[in-house]
Amino acid sequence: MNIVITGSTKGIGLGMAREFLKRGHDVVISSRRADAVDTTVTELRAEFPDRRIAGQSCDVVEYAAVEALWECAVRELGQVDIWVNNAGRDGTKVPFFALPPEDYVQTVQTNVIGMMHCCRVVIPGMYKQGSGKIFNMEGFGSNGQVRPAIAPYGTTKYAVKYLTKALALELKNTPVQMCYLSPGIVVTDMLVPPPDQRGEGWERSKKILNILADTVETVTPFLVEGMLKANKNGAAVRWLTPGKVRRRFATSLFRKRDIFGPLGF
Ligand SMILES: NC(=O)c1ccc[n+]([C@@H]2O[C@H](COP(=O)([O-])OP(=O)(O)OC[C@H]3O[C@@H](n4cnc5c(N)ncnc54)[C@H](OP(=O)(O)O)[C@@H]3O)[C@@H](O)[C@H]2O)c1
Repeated sequence: MNIVITGSTKGIGLGMAREFLKRGHDVVISSRRADAVDTTVTELRAEFPDRRIAGQSCDVVEYAAVEALWECAVRELGQVDIWVNNAGRDGTKVPFFALPPEDYVQTVQTNVIGMMHCCRVVIPGMYKQGSGKIFNMEGFGSNGQVRPAIAPYGTTKYAVKYLTKALALELKNTPVQMCYLSPGIVVTDMLVPPPDQRGEGWERSKKILNILADTVETVTPFLVEGMLKANKNGAAVRWLTPGKVRRRFATSLFRKRDIFGPLGF
């Protein structure tokens, strides 16, 4: 199969690219930074010399850039079987009244407008092909949960769920499947603050994260298997289900995890 993943130069996006390649599929790598795309493509080609791996820089906020990413994928791979709307940003974690307006504008543009642009470009393309699956990345807030200092991110991920539900309804009885993807809590640059911002709050967060978080290497094989197997419009591939959360808290009483230590945090 041929896969496009937005925001795949690091974190969960890169992890998913690697897992698709391991299973014999071909991928297009992308993010805003052309140098990061080139480096990632070079590294992956060395790791998977038998696979077709293309790269195209794309800021999902720019509609024309998303069109160029679709065209690159069709040119390089022939058709697109799975498109993963993974690119995202969380923004500065301070109360909303202290947040610079440009910060929340960027979060909304990336997580909502960027996803809309991708769906707007990809749906007609897949319809013309006669098949295709689109996965939209959920996140904190998608299930309606609320927490302070993360209002714009939570708002956008709530919107992602609505958008996916609405588009799945529109795509009923078409060859295009609109699906949900949820990675749980994953140790990436998005989760771990830079060293100078890891104060007491971070040490407190680590206690819960040591119970609930996982590494990219743990989560991405599950996500990729789920995306490959999903065969109906509106399908959901979700790692951290409410049942799993309950089991994690129950076992944390007698089994201590240290997910950050081995990763050097
Ligand atoms: N980590 C978690 O615990 C977690 C939990 C739930 C959901 N998620 C979701 O999973 C997705 C990936 O998160 P992550 O933790 O892997 O984040 P990450 O490590 O920060 O990686 C984000 C990727 O997206 C790219 N990106 C950012 N803005 C972009 C834009 N406007 N256009 C195109 N690419 C862009 C980044 O590259 P450039 O900066 O070079 O563009 C990078 O490749 C996000 O949608 C996030 O909300 C993460």
